[in-house]
Amino acid sequence: MTETLLVTGASGQLGRAVIRHLLGAQKVAPASIIATTRDPENLADLAALGITVRAADFNDPASLEKAFAGADRVLIVSTGDLDLKTGRRLKQHEAAVAAAKKAGVSHLLYTSMPNPEPVSPVLFAGDHYGTEQAIKASGIPYTIFRNGWYQENLFLALPHAIASGKWYSSAGDGRIAHGARDDMAAAIAAGLASGSKESNIYTLTGPHAYTTSEIATLVTEVTGKPLEVIQLPDEALTEGVKAAGLPEDFARIIVSFDANTRSGRIAMVTDAVETLSGRKPQTLKQFLEANKAALAG
Ligand SMILES: NC(=O)c1ccc[n+]([C@@H]2O[C@H](COP(=O)([O-])OP(=O)(O)OC[C@H]3O[C@@H](n4cnc5c(N)ncnc54)[C@H](OP(=O)(O)O)[C@@H]3O)[C@@H](O)[C@H]2O)c1
Repeated sequence: MTETLLVTGASGQLGRAVIRHLLGAQKVAPASIIATTRDPENLADLAALGITVRAADFNDPASLEKAFAGADRVLIVSTGDLDLKTGRRLKQHEAAVAAAKKAGVSHLLYTSMPNPEPVSPVLFAGDHYGTEQAIKASGIPYTIFRNGWYQENLFLALPHAIASGKWYSSAGDGRIAHGARDDMAAAIAAGLASGSKESNIYTLTGPHAYTTSEIATLVTEVTGKPLEVIQLPDEALTEGVKAAGLPEDFARIIVSFDANTRSGRIAMVTDAVETLSGRKPQTLKQFLEANKAALAG
Protein backbone atom coordinates (compact mmCIF):
# COMPACT_ATOMS: atom_id res chain seq x y z
CA MET A 1 0.00 0.00 0.00
CA THR A 2 1.30 3.47 -0.86
CA GLU A 3 1.54 5.58 2.25
CA THR A 4 0.47 9.22 2.37
CA LEU A 5 3.26 11.45 3.66
CA LEU A 6 2.55 14.83 5.25
CA VAL A 7 5.01 17.71 5.79
CA THR A 8 4.18 20.70 8.02
CA GLY A 9 6.06 23.99 7.62
CA ALA A 10 6.14 23.14 3.92
CA SER A 11 6.59 26.77 2.90
CA GLY A 12 9.74 27.07 4.99
CA GLN A 13 13.30 26.47 3.85
CA LEU A 14 13.57 23.01 5.41
CA GLY A 15 10.02 21.89 4.55
CA ARG A 16 10.38 22.88 0.89
CA ALA A 17 13.69 21.05 0.66
CA VAL A 18 12.18 17.90 2.21
CA ILE A 19 9.40 17.96 -0.40
CA ARG A 20 11.93 18.47 -3.21
CA HIS A 21 13.82 15.38 -2.03
CA LEU A 22 10.60 13.36 -1.67
CA LEU A 23 9.76 14.11 -5.31
CA GLY A 24 13.38 13.72 -6.48
CA ALA A 25 15.65 11.15 -4.82
CA GLN A 26 12.79 9.36 -3.04
CA LYS A 27 10.59 9.21 -6.17
CA VAL A 28 7.37 9.74 -4.18
CA ALA A 29 4.35 10.56 -6.38
CA PRO A 30 2.91 14.06 -5.77
CA ALA A 31 -0.49 12.44 -5.13
CA SER A 32 1.01 10.71 -2.05
CA ILE A 33 2.17 13.98 -0.46
CA ILE A 34 0.24 16.46 1.71
CA ALA A 35 1.89 19.82 2.45
CA THR A 36 0.57 22.13 5.18
CA THR A 37 0.88 25.87 5.74
CA ARG A 38 -1.11 28.59 7.45
CA ASP A 39 -1.70 30.17 4.05
CA PRO A 40 -2.24 27.74 1.15
CA GLU A 41 -1.45 30.51 -1.35
CA ASN A 42 2.18 30.10 -0.23
CA LEU A 43 2.16 26.61 -1.71
CA ALA A 44 0.33 27.21 -5.00
CA ASP A 45 3.41 25.94 -6.86
CA LEU A 46 3.25 22.60 -5.00
CA ALA A 47 -0.51 22.32 -5.61
CA ALA A 48 0.19 22.82 -9.33
CA LEU A 49 2.48 19.76 -9.17
CA GLY A 50 -0.37 17.61 -7.83
CA ILE A 51 0.56 17.78 -4.13
CA THR A 52 -2.40 18.18 -1.75
CA VAL A 53 -2.06 21.50 0.05
CA ARG A 54 -3.97 22.01 3.31
CA ALA A 55 -4.27 24.86 5.78
CA ALA A 56 -2.97 24.10 9.29
CA ASP A 57 -2.16 26.52 12.07
CA PHE A 58 -0.23 25.19 15.06
CA ASN A 59 -2.15 27.68 17.22
CA ASP A 60 -5.46 26.12 16.10
CA PRO A 61 -5.65 22.42 17.14
CA ALA A 62 -8.86 21.80 15.15
CA SER A 63 -7.12 22.89 11.94
CA LEU A 64 -4.28 20.45 12.64
CA GLU A 65 -6.60 17.49 13.17
CA LYS A 66 -8.44 18.29 9.94
CA ALA A 67 -5.20 18.72 8.03
CA PHE A 68 -3.73 15.42 9.28
CA ALA A 69 -6.81 13.33 8.29
CA GLY A 70 -5.80 10.47 5.99
CA ALA A 71 -2.04 10.98 6.46
CA ASP A 72 -0.04 7.86 7.37
CA ARG A 73 3.31 9.45 8.19
CA VAL A 74 3.47 13.03 9.49
CA LEU A 75 6.63 15.14 9.67
CA ILE A 76 6.26 17.95 12.20
CA VAL A 77 8.82 20.62 11.32
CA SER A 78 9.42 22.63 14.50
CA THR A 79 7.99 26.14 14.22
CA GLY A 80 10.22 29.17 14.60
CA ASP A 81 8.07 30.67 17.36
CA LEU A 82 10.89 31.33 19.84
CA ASP A 83 9.00 33.19 22.53
CA LEU A 84 10.94 32.54 25.74
CA LYS A 85 8.24 34.06 27.96
CA THR A 86 5.11 32.15 26.90
CA GLY A 87 6.39 28.67 26.00
CA ARG A 88 4.13 28.95 22.95
CA ARG A 89 6.25 26.74 20.70
CA LEU A 90 6.02 23.70 22.98
CA LYS A 91 2.23 24.17 23.17
CA GLN A 92 2.10 24.31 19.35
CA HIS A 93 4.08 21.09 19.01
CA GLU A 94 2.05 19.33 21.72
CA ALA A 95 -1.11 20.32 19.82
CA ALA A 96 0.34 18.79 16.65
CA VAL A 97 1.17 15.52 18.44
CA ALA A 98 -2.34 15.35 19.95
CA ALA A 99 -3.87 16.03 16.53
CA ALA A 100 -1.78 13.25 14.97
CA LYS A 101 -3.04 10.85 17.63
CA LYS A 102 -6.68 11.83 17.01
CA ALA A 103 -6.23 11.56 13.24
CA GLY A 104 -4.86 8.00 13.59
CA VAL A 105 -1.42 8.77 12.12
CA SER A 106 0.74 5.63 12.08
CA HIS A 107 4.22 7.22 12.25
CA LEU A 108 5.31 10.60 13.59
CA LEU A 109 8.53 12.34 12.59
CA TYR A 110 9.92 15.49 14.21
CA THR A 111 12.85 17.90 13.77
CA SER A 112 14.49 18.30 17.20
CA MET A 113 18.00 19.38 18.26
CA PRO A 114 21.04 17.46 19.60
CA ASN A 115 21.10 16.76 23.35
CA PRO A 116 17.93 18.73 24.21
CA GLU A 117 17.71 17.44 27.82
CA PRO A 118 16.88 19.97 30.59
CA VAL A 119 20.57 20.57 31.43
CA SER A 120 21.09 22.06 27.95
CA PRO A 121 22.25 25.69 28.03
CA VAL A 122 20.25 26.39 24.84
CA LEU A 123 17.37 28.55 26.01
CA PHE A 124 14.77 26.89 23.76
CA ALA A 125 16.00 23.30 24.27
CA GLY A 126 12.97 22.66 26.51
CA ASP A 127 10.66 23.07 23.50
CA HIS A 128 12.40 20.19 21.74
CA TYR A 129 12.79 18.02 24.84
CA GLY A 130 9.12 18.57 25.77
CA THR A 131 8.02 17.71 22.23
CA GLU A 132 10.10 14.52 22.24
CA GLN A 133 8.45 13.54 25.53
CA ALA A 134 4.97 14.26 24.12
CA ILE A 135 5.73 12.12 21.05
CA LYS A 136 6.93 9.22 23.20
CA ALA A 137 3.88 9.54 25.48
CA SER A 138 1.53 9.45 22.47
CA GLY A 139 2.37 5.82 21.79
CA ILE A 140 2.73 6.55 18.05
CA PRO A 141 5.92 4.99 16.60
CA TYR A 142 8.33 7.83 15.80
CA THR A 143 11.47 9.02 14.08
CA ILE A 144 13.11 11.98 15.77
CA PHE A 145 15.76 13.87 13.79
CA ARG A 146 17.97 15.84 16.13
CA ASN A 147 19.23 18.38 13.60
CA GLY A 148 22.65 19.81 14.37
CA TRP A 149 23.30 23.46 13.52
CA TYR A 150 23.03 24.39 9.87
CA GLN A 151 26.06 25.71 8.00
CA GLU A 152 23.64 28.43 6.83
CA ASN A 153 23.45 29.74 10.44
CA LEU A 154 26.96 31.10 9.87
CA PHE A 155 25.38 33.80 7.68
CA LEU A 156 24.23 35.37 10.97
CA ALA A 157 27.71 36.03 12.32
CA LEU A 158 30.30 35.68 9.57
CA PRO A 159 29.59 38.58 7.16
CA HIS A 160 29.96 41.13 9.96
CA ALA A 161 32.90 39.28 11.53
CA ILE A 162 34.74 39.02 8.20
CA ALA A 163 34.11 42.69 7.43
CA SER A 164 35.48 43.81 10.81
CA GLY A 165 38.17 41.11 11.10
CA LYS A 166 36.92 40.27 14.61
CA TRP A 167 34.64 37.39 15.60
CA TYR A 168 33.34 37.70 19.16
CA SER A 169 32.47 34.39 20.80
CA SER A 170 32.07 32.70 24.15
CA ALA A 171 32.30 29.17 22.72
CA GLY A 172 35.90 28.61 23.92
CA ASP A 173 37.36 25.41 22.50
CA GLY A 174 33.96 23.79 22.01
CA ARG A 175 33.31 22.19 18.65
CA ILE A 176 30.39 22.12 16.20
CA ALA A 177 29.92 19.91 13.14
CA HIS A 178 27.75 22.31 11.12
CA GLY A 179 25.82 20.49 8.41
CA ALA A 180 24.16 21.70 5.21
CA ARG A 181 20.42 22.29 5.63
CA ASP A 182 19.83 20.53 2.34
CA ASP A 183 21.74 17.42 3.48
CA MET A 184 19.57 17.24 6.58
CA ALA A 185 16.46 17.67 4.42
CA ALA A 186 17.63 14.80 2.20
CA ALA A 187 18.07 12.56 5.24
CA ILE A 188 14.68 13.55 6.67
CA ALA A 189 12.95 12.90 3.31
CA ALA A 190 14.58 9.46 3.20
CA GLY A 191 13.30 8.71 6.72
CA LEU A 192 9.83 9.98 5.86
CA ALA A 193 9.62 7.83 2.70
CA SER A 194 11.29 4.77 4.25
CA GLY A 195 8.14 3.08 5.54
CA SER A 196 10.04 2.27 8.76
CA LYS A 197 7.81 1.06 11.57
CA GLU A 198 10.14 1.13 14.57
CA SER A 199 11.01 4.17 16.68
CA ASN A 200 14.41 5.78 16.20
CA ILE A 201 16.33 8.93 17.12
CA TYR A 202 18.97 10.18 14.65
CA THR A 203 21.36 13.05 15.33
CA LEU A 204 22.12 14.75 12.01
CA THR A 205 25.46 16.57 11.69
CA GLY A 206 28.04 17.67 9.18
CA PRO A 207 31.14 15.51 8.53
CA HIS A 208 33.65 17.22 10.87
CA ALA A 209 33.53 19.20 14.13
CA TYR A 210 35.54 22.44 14.36
CA THR A 211 36.31 24.95 17.10
CA THR A 212 35.48 28.60 16.39
CA SER A 213 39.21 29.28 15.85
CA GLU A 214 39.44 26.45 13.35
CA ILE A 215 36.40 27.81 11.49
CA ALA A 216 38.06 31.24 11.42
CA THR A 217 41.23 29.69 9.96
CA LEU A 218 39.14 27.98 7.25
CA VAL A 219 37.37 31.28 6.52
CA THR A 220 40.73 33.01 6.07
CA GLU A 221 41.95 30.19 3.81
CA VAL A 222 38.86 30.53 1.61
CA THR A 223 38.39 34.32 1.60
CA GLY A 224 41.96 35.52 2.08
CA LYS A 225 40.70 37.83 4.85
CA PRO A 226 42.21 37.70 8.36
CA LEU A 227 39.73 36.83 11.10
CA GLU A 228 40.62 37.03 14.78
CA VAL A 229 38.43 35.19 17.30
CA ILE A 230 37.97 37.14 20.53
CA GLN A 231 36.66 35.09 23.43
CA LEU A 232 34.42 36.90 25.90
CA PRO A 233 32.41 35.84 28.97
CA ASP A 234 28.72 35.16 28.15
CA GLU A 235 27.54 38.39 29.84
CA ALA A 236 29.92 40.62 27.85
CA LEU A 237 28.97 38.86 24.61
CA THR A 238 25.26 39.35 25.38
CA GLU A 239 25.84 43.08 25.91
CA GLY A 240 27.80 43.26 22.63
CA VAL A 241 25.06 41.47 20.66
CA LYS A 242 22.45 43.81 22.18
CA ALA A 243 24.59 46.84 21.32
CA ALA A 244 24.62 45.59 17.72
CA GLY A 245 20.85 46.13 17.72
CA LEU A 246 19.39 42.70 18.48
CA PRO A 247 16.52 42.38 20.98
CA GLU A 248 17.51 41.15 24.45
CA ASP A 249 15.80 37.73 24.22
CA PHE A 250 17.34 36.98 20.83
CA ALA A 251 20.77 38.08 22.12
CA ARG A 252 20.37 35.70 25.06
CA ILE A 253 19.41 32.85 22.72
CA ILE A 254 22.44 33.46 20.49
CA VAL A 255 24.80 33.51 23.46
CA SER A 256 23.19 30.32 24.81
CA PHE A 257 24.36 28.62 21.59
CA ASP A 258 27.95 29.53 22.45
CA ALA A 259 27.52 28.31 26.04
CA ASN A 260 26.19 25.04 24.59
CA THR A 261 29.17 24.74 22.24
CA ARG A 262 31.56 25.43 25.13
CA SER A 263 29.89 22.68 27.17
CA GLY A 264 30.67 20.10 24.47
CA ARG A 265 26.98 19.20 23.95
CA ILE A 266 27.07 19.85 20.19
CA ALA A 267 30.51 18.44 19.38
CA MET A 268 29.30 15.10 18.04
CA VAL A 269 29.82 13.87 14.47
CA THR A 270 27.50 11.18 13.13
CA ASP A 271 27.14 9.41 9.80
CA ALA A 272 23.33 9.55 9.94
CA VAL A 273 22.99 11.95 6.97
CA GLU A 274 24.88 9.58 4.68
CA THR A 275 23.33 6.41 6.14
CA LEU A 276 19.79 7.73 5.64
CA SER A 277 20.18 9.64 2.36
CA GLY A 278 23.04 7.78 0.69
CA ARG A 279 24.78 11.04 -0.13
CA LYS A 280 28.06 12.48 1.15
CA PRO A 281 27.41 15.50 3.37
CA GLN A 282 28.77 18.87 2.26
CA THR A 283 31.94 19.87 4.14
CA LEU A 284 32.28 23.25 5.84
CA LYS A 285 35.01 24.20 3.37
CA GLN A 286 32.69 23.43 0.43
CA PHE A 287 30.00 25.59 2.07
CA LEU A 288 32.43 28.50 2.56
CA GLU A 289 33.72 28.21 -1.00
CA ALA A 290 30.20 28.09 -2.47
CA ASN A 291 29.15 31.16 -0.44
CA LYS A 292 32.40 33.12 -0.49
CA ALA A 293 30.91 36.15 -2.26
CA ALA A 294 27.88 36.38 0.05
CA LEU A 295 30.01 35.96 3.18
CA ALA A 296 32.97 38.16 2.33
CA GLY A 297 31.49 40.72 -0.07
N1 LIG B 1 19.21 23.31 13.23
C1 LIG B 1 19.35 24.58 12.93
O1 LIG B 1 20.46 25.11 12.78
C2 LIG B 1 18.14 25.44 12.74
C3 LIG B 1 18.29 26.74 12.24
C4 LIG B 1 17.14 27.51 12.04
C5 LIG B 1 15.90 26.98 12.35
N2 LIG B 1 15.80 25.71 12.85
C6 LIG B 1 14.48 25.09 13.14
O2 LIG B 1 14.04 24.45 11.96
C7 LIG B 1 12.73 24.92 11.62
C8 LIG B 1 12.58 24.97 10.12
O3 LIG B 1 13.55 25.84 9.62
P1 LIG B 1 13.26 26.71 8.34
O4 LIG B 1 14.55 27.36 7.98
O5 LIG B 1 12.55 25.89 7.34
O6 LIG B 1 12.25 27.82 8.95
P2 LIG B 1 11.32 28.81 8.15
O7 LIG B 1 11.78 28.97 6.74
O8 LIG B 1 11.16 30.03 9.01
O9 LIG B 1 9.92 28.04 8.12
C9 LIG B 1 9.17 27.81 9.27
C10 LIG B 1 7.87 27.16 8.87
O10 LIG B 1 7.09 27.02 10.06
C11 LIG B 1 5.76 27.27 9.72
N3 LIG B 1 5.06 27.82 10.88
C12 LIG B 1 5.50 28.75 11.75
N4 LIG B 1 4.55 29.02 12.66
C13 LIG B 1 3.49 28.24 12.35
C14 LIG B 1 2.20 28.06 12.90
N5 LIG B 1 1.77 28.76 13.97
N6 LIG B 1 1.39 27.16 12.32
C15 LIG B 1 1.78 26.47 11.22
N7 LIG B 1 2.97 26.61 10.65
C16 LIG B 1 3.83 27.48 11.21
C17 LIG B 1 5.76 28.28 8.58
O11 LIG B 1 4.66 27.96 7.75
P3 LIG B 1 3.60 29.02 7.17
O12 LIG B 1 4.14 30.41 7.39
O13 LIG B 1 3.49 28.69 5.71
O14 LIG B 1 2.38 28.73 7.93
C18 LIG B 1 7.08 27.97 7.88
O15 LIG B 1 6.86 27.16 6.75
C19 LIG B 1 12.63 26.28 12.30
O16 LIG B 1 11.30 26.63 12.47
C20 LIG B 1 13.40 26.05 13.57
O17 LIG B 1 12.57 25.42 14.53
C21 LIG B 1 16.88 24.93 13.04
